[in-house]
Amino acid sequence: MTVADGFTYIDRELHCGDVRVTDIVRETGTPLYLYNLDAVLDRYEQHRAAFASFSHRTCFAVKANTALPLLQVLAAAGCGFDVNSRGELFRAMKAGADPRRITMTGVGKSRADIAAALDAGVALLNVESASECRLVSDVAEERGAVADVLLRLNPDVETDTHPYISTGEAAHKFGLSPGDIRSLAAQAAWLPGLRIAGLSMHLGSQILSPLPYAHGLHVMLKVLDDITPLLDRAPDIIDIGGGFGVRYDVCHGELDPIKVAAVMADVLGDRDDPWTLITEPGRSLVANAGVLVTAVEHVKPSEDRTFLILDAGMNDLLRPALYQASHSIVPVRESEADVQLYDIVGPVCESSDTFAVNYALPSQERGDLVALLSAGAYGASMASTYNSRPLAAEAVVYKGEWHLARERQSLEDMIRGEFPLSL
Ligand SMILES: Cc1ncc(COP(=O)(O)O)c(C=O)c1O
Repeated sequence: MTVADGFTYIDRELHCGDVRVTDIVRETGTPLYLYNLDAVLDRYEQHRAAFASFSHRTCFAVKANTALPLLQVLAAAGCGFDVNSRGELFRAMKAGADPRRITMTGVGKSRADIAAALDAGVALLNVESASECRLVSDVAEERGAVADVLLRLNPDVETDTHPYISTGEAAHKFGLSPGDIRSLAAQAAWLPGLRIAGLSMHLGSQILSPLPYAHGLHVMLKVLDDITPLLDRAPDIIDIGGGFGVRYDVCHGELDPIKVAAVMADVLGDRDDPWTLITEPGRSLVANAGVLVTAVEHVKPSEDRTFLILDAGMNDLLRPALYQASHSIVPVRESEADVQLYDIVGPVCESSDTFAVNYALPSQERGDLVALLSAGAYGASMASTYNSRPLAAEAVVYKGEWHLARERQSLEDMIRGEFPLSL
């Protein structure tokens, strides 16, 4: 039985591809992030195929998952990357990314971020303010270069997602209003270090309907038509960002990229502008190809409920505490034991360190393993060492074999670079 992309039960044991999860955990311990890279590549191919009728480039949003082997297989498959900092750029380059397929986004890029991008030969900077345009132009001029930029449009489009991951409304800090874009285009001649190559947008994350993309693209085309006469060279790139929603539990569907491609084609109609389309999927390529494997630390009955206390906490997987995200939780070994209801929590000293309430699982004992599904996006990449808990190990399965992607952080590593007083 398949429970997620590339995760199945074989002989009542959870497997990642053909590899038994317990065989990996025996070597790595828990908590463990485990990704199926073959499943990630399948998702990438589906995404690419959905937009094949366009001149199209996929730039995986590195913030969703920064594991080097995952970035490596995507790079080798020809995928581009969207990076949000020079740190993410560093990772992408280590993974063998082609800088001509990299975009750098981010509302607060520093001089160092911009310099790193230009020095690496990054194709496009998605800029979000007049101040950033001046900085990009200056940094490029210092290098005798002209940076290609996409102006990030804030199209003021509502999305039906959690407010913390909605980014395309006027009140949000992201992007530029149509009016700001027009005035920047009118001043382009005063920014000799940059060329406006097109527009970008990113409406938010976990979007389940294609309609916001259609609305955003409408606004984008209008702005493009307004600014084209102001520019020396016609802009020829449209970047619609990421945000393609995935199935986190049985109650929700997912957004098929084919539906987004269809509304894009509808909105573009019979225009024949020679645009290149960029998409920046993060979650949709990796969320369901990753799980967080964790052990039951304690079973704690209380008056009206039973707590299942795991060895993974909100420092390892922040999404439930941060935006009430729910993850399906399954036993690593199926059992015939009676089903019980549990409040499933982590060991961190916060009440928000709760993964599920009243959740049905076969009766669990200390030491049993469970897997939190759909943990491949914004899991390890958002982890922290809160409560001085070392970062979890990460492993991947690729072509039938498992590999360690990151060893569990040691306590010494956790305090590296700290300086106690010599008392
Ligand atoms: C600019 C930009 N592009 C792409 C993404 C990826 O979004 P998702 O993981 O929902 O596809 C994000 C996520 O925050 C983003 O900010």
